[in-house]
Amino acid sequence: MQLTLTTPRLILRPFTVSDAADVHVLVSAREVAALAANIPHPYQQGMAERWIATHESAYTTGLGVTFAITQRADERLCGAINFVIDPDHHNAELGYWIGLPYWNQGYAKEAARELIQYGFSHLDLYRIYASHLGQNLASGRVMQKVGMHYEGCLRQHLLKWGVYDDVIYYGVIRNDFSA
Ligand SMILES: CC(C)(COP(=O)(O)OP(=O)(O)OC[C@H]1O[C@@H](n2cnc3c(N)ncnc32)[C@H](O)[C@@H]1OP(=O)(O)O)[C@@H](O)C(=O)NCCC(=O)NCCS
Repeated sequence: MQLTLTTPRLILRPFTVSDAADVHVLVSAREVAALAANIPHPYQQGMAERWIATHESAYTTGLGVTFAITQRADERLCGAINFVIDPDHHNAELGYWIGLPYWNQGYAKEAARELIQYGFSHLDLYRIYASHLGQNLASGRVMQKVGMHYEGCLRQHLLKWGVYDDVIYYGVIRNDFSA
């Protein structure tokens, strides 16, 4: 059973199909898709349901875990955060998005800190890494603030909406994080 995690302002819980309509609204925003490497835009009907339907098998096979980021105060969905896990190497790629109405309130940092802690303490991960587009300075800031370290830049690696952009990698090793 996938755990539910709590932070001072957030509850991180598994998605259910009843979240699909809210996911659709939040992820459809052009501003959200514009900064992420892999969110389709326009975000078509049915995509949220299909995405949510992948979560349970990813969790049971140990290949990933995804949490809905919800506000403790009113249970409102404000984003998502996940690991894509490579069990052979005890590493995972961290990913996240926050809905536009909830930006710049510290939610990504709060959720990412909790997930990294959970990854090292409950998922037996040794290394956690993440990447962001060069233009996505806010995501880079989140990675820095949660204790990840700059690892390198793949210059002009992705063609995002017709423009080549860098992909910048951050990572943290379990021993660094505990220290
Ligand atoms: C990136 C994203 C997750 C950040 O979520 P958030 O909840 O707003 O992040 P937080 O409030 O926790 O932290 C944002 C940090 O970036 C800073 N920031 C915001 N906009 C910025 C900008 N344009 N340039 C530089 N820094 C910026 C904030 O000041 C804050 O830093 P601080 O702690 O030093 O004040 C959110 O903007 C998002 O979902 N974007 C679209 C999807 C996406 O980019 N996903 C990640 C893919 S790698």
